[in-house]
Amino acid sequence: MAAPLRWPAESLWEAVVPLLPGFTVEILPEIDSTNSELMRRARAGQADPVLLVAERQTAGRGRRGRGWVSSDGDSLTFSLGLPLGPADWSGLSLAVGVAVAQALHPDIGLKWPNDLWVQGRKLAGILVETASVVGAGADGAGSPLRRHAVIGIGINIAPRPPVEGSDIVPASLRELWPQADAPGALARAVPALVQAVLAFEREGFAPFVAGFAARDVLRGRDVTLSDGTTGRAAGVDRGGALLVHTAAGLQTVSSSEVSVRPAP
Ligand code: BTN
Repeated sequence: MAAPLRWPAESLWEAVVPLLPGFTVEILPEIDSTNSELMRRARAGQADPVLLVAERQTAGRGRRGRGWVSSDGDSLTFSLGLPLGPADWSGLSLAVGVAVAQALHPDIGLKWPNDLWVQGRKLAGILVETASVVGAGADGAGSPLRRHAVIGIGINIAPRPPVEGSDIVPASLRELWPQADAPGALARAVPALVQAVLAFEREGFAPFVAGFAARDVLRGRDVTLSDGTTGRAAGVDRGGALLVHTAAGLQTVSSSEVSVRPAP
């Protein structure tokens, strides 16, 4: 049997609570999905900032209705839930990608909108969801709805088999950082993630544009969008939308429902 993982719950709490008063850290052996759990809690009015880590997810969720498969110890799966009120939400998931990539390794690339890549293969995915929470006002009466963000991240730590229907072996953090384990990756990623989310709330995506550009794996490459449009990727704008030179001119792609793949 594998040795139990030693999670850095206390040191993370100490690092983050000055930034997020009321912050708590929870490590669970198993849950359906850390995002689903924090969305349920937010909808039930539990709005305090929380980091929820699961050693195993039985129904992990990815973007665009897909699942997210992970295995004990070989993956890191966690979600950060917190009240958030940026003036403009566009680019939040890209900002998260920039922060996590920078915290983990210089050679991690970013594939719009928010996948972390290593040498053309997916290392990690990000799922950002929001809920409305009714908060209690200072007078004890219900205050207007506030937004709550749930930012879920799944990272392959050790090599894993290809997902069903594919022959591409996903990337793993140990390719770049041979001693990596899930607790060590969490310790690096979470403080950077919290700082980035708070900077995003204050300033939007603008402070992250250069960081994204430095790791943008699509820039200058021929790409095909899921609606069939083809063109050449030309970076992202100040709102995090993908720019693509197409036959019909420069197209701005902002919908997270659109997927994009580079030409082989
Ligand atoms: C994607 O690339 O499609 C996004 C994957 C996000 C996976 C993480 S794992 C932790 C959190 N809980 C979930 O159910 N999903 C996110």
